[in-house]
Amino acid sequence: MKIFIDTADIEEIKQAQSLGVLDGVTTNPSLVAKTGKPFETCIKEILEVVPGDVSVEVVGLTHDEMVAEAEKYAAWGDNVVIKVPIIEEGLKAIKTLSGQGVKVNVTLCFSPLQALLAAKAGATYISPFVGRLDDIHTDGMELISQIVDIYGNYAYDTEVLVASIRNPMHVVSAALMGADVCTIPYKVIGQLLKHPLTDKGLAAFLADWEKANKG
Ligand code: E4P
Repeated sequence: MKIFIDTADIEEIKQAQSLGVLDGVTTNPSLVAKTGKPFETCIKEILEVVPGDVSVEVVGLTHDEMVAEAEKYAAWGDNVVIKVPIIEEGLKAIKTLSGQGVKVNVTLCFSPLQALLAAKAGATYISPFVGRLDDIHTDGMELISQIVDIYGNYAYDTEVLVASIRNPMHVVSAALMGADVCTIPYKVIGQLLKHPLTDKGLAAFLADWEKANKG
């Protein structure tokens, strides 16, 4: 399973990258706004340090606007993935862009049928938002299970990218279901490694090593 970080914060990206297990980055307009930097500066700064896929979201609402934005961003780097919302005009743009060989990450997916259409249009990634479904008392991980099954039934190449992750259990469930990618906020990446018994066990080993080597 690939691990992406869900942030536009360059320091968080560098920290996560130093762990050696980061495969890419997803951004969205809200995450870029949080950095306080101009959009282009922020994305180009990320592209300078990340060799893996970096998702950059379009904000146009028509096919032509989305494609024009996508062409501009795709020129910023070979690893740019264009994030397109799964609306009618977006679906048309996914088809056009994937036909041109541009990688597309289809965002704001909340249903298996949206995921099916995105795959048919040639999406590279589908991003179902699990946390936002959980927030409205709908099982977000159930959507992942449905999409993994549907894509398996027809052998679609589109990768299932679990988005809107809120906690480590989302990552465990995604891995058990065979999702291709999890995009994870910085705070949750930090939680993945933690186990109290690891810390307790390490403290005991170090204390015993001290005892054994005294005198
Ligand atoms: C990722 O591609 C999405 O933009 C992101 O995961 C949304 O997460 P949120 O629901 O925490 O805003």
